[in-house]
Amino acid sequence: MSQGPNWFERLVASLVAVVMALMRGILMAPLVALRRALMPLRVARADAEAIIPLRHRVLCSGHPREAAEWDIDDEASTRHWTTRWGGEVVGVVTVARRTPPGAEEPEWQLRGMAVAPEAQGLGVGRQLLEEVHRDVDAPMWCNAHEHAVGFYKRYGWEPRGARFDKPPAGPHFRMFWRPRRLPAKKEAE
Ligand SMILES: CC(C)(COP(=O)(O)OP(=O)(O)OC[C@H]1O[C@@H](n2cnc3c(N)ncnc32)[C@H](O)[C@@H]1OP(=O)(O)O)[C@@H](O)C(=O)NCCC(=O)NCCS
Repeated sequence: MSQGPNWFERLVASLVAVVMALMRGILMAPLVALRRALMPLRVARADAEAIIPLRHRVLCSGHPREAAEWDIDDEASTRHWTTRWGGEVVGVVTVARRTPPGAEEPEWQLRGMAVAPEAQGLGVGRQLLEEVHRDVDAPMWCNAHEHAVGFYKRYGWEPRGARFDKPPAGPHFRMFWRPRRLPAKKEAE
């Protein structure tokens, strides 16, 4: 009967994985810096047609394209942005007027924040979010996937309320952002 790897083999495999990740980071850093210097990231307002393919690839993969076409997309007040890197769309985000659950007035809802896997970790998400903050400059909310909560927190978004499930995507938290000049809103809960 064959046995699985023992603790020593698992330790060696983990060490090798850590060293390889470190080496990849060290070797890639200058190449990433060079590519960014030659091809800066450009954030701009866009229409729904420009953002749907990446939204589909990152957030709705395995589903038909229609899953990435949302009712908010063509509303007059909705705004979309893309980040292009050498002409290629590597980041997308949308805001639309929607009332947060439990509130009475509509606010801006951030939706469909997506960065191409090959461009993640390079500042694309930060740049997009900062552009949305600048442009909207008014209270916003979103349903953030649990794994993205830390990202939003870095840029002043605050989770409020309990974790909830959003099938098929999984666990989410409702998060809120307010421009610094506005006083913090008291929690409803
Ligand atoms: C989450 C996502 C938008 C972040 O975009 P990104 O371009 O990869 O992030 P950036 O490179 O701009 O990261 C900016 C900072 O946030 C940090 N960060 C990025 N993703 C994070 C995460 N999931 N949790 C905590 N911190 C995160 C980075 O380490 C970086 O910190 P630093 O400035 O100290 O180096 C992107 O990874 C993504 O599209 N993921 C898949 C789809 C998704 O989850 N969308 C959100 C749905 S709510």
